[in-house]
Amino acid sequence: MISNNMQKLINDQYHRELFSAHMYFSICSYYLDKDLDGFANFFRVQAEEELMHALKQFDYLHQVDGKITYQAIDAPPTDFESIMDTFNQTLEHERYITRHIHAIVKAALEDGDFATHNFFQWFVQEQVEEEALMRTLIAKLKLIGNNKSALYLLNEELMQRKPEEATA
Ligand SMILES: [Fe+2]
Ligand SMILES: [Fe+2]
Repeated sequence: MISNNMQKLINDQYHRELFSAHMYFSICSYYLDKDLDGFANFFRVQAEEELMHALKQFDYLHQVDGKITYQAIDAPPTDFESIMDTFNQTLEHERYITRHIHAIVKAALEDGDFATHNFFQWFVQEQVEEEALMRTLIAKLKLIGNNKSALYLLNEELMQRKPEEATA
């Protein structure tokens, strides 16, 4: 049986993952409107991964006899100034998520909740990968600058991203 404190922390994180999906669908729409299909695909896959994160936490909470307390999910941002802006906002958002994942891991240790501590290790690693991926793409966009041909090539590259197989 999970403690009330840990249950609340996981609940909040579950809603944050859903918000993340919502935010990345919003960025996907921004790119669909611009006919940048590769960028749209990248954020669609990103949103799907966030839904998978929420689902992992949903399953875990039920497995340890906890409950989800359903809350409203905030509206995502819809105003993006540029391609670079969508990636900057994404990196900033992922850093915010990382801080919360780390807080959960810390609380789990303090609580002696080794199951939750172990479960969230996957998310610790996932956040390292998420932040690295966004930083790499921001670096590529800086290189591209105003070069339309290079942007076309990056769009083609991002078209190749496929959803990961569910591992839960
Ligand atoms: Fe996530
Ligand atoms: Fe993420």
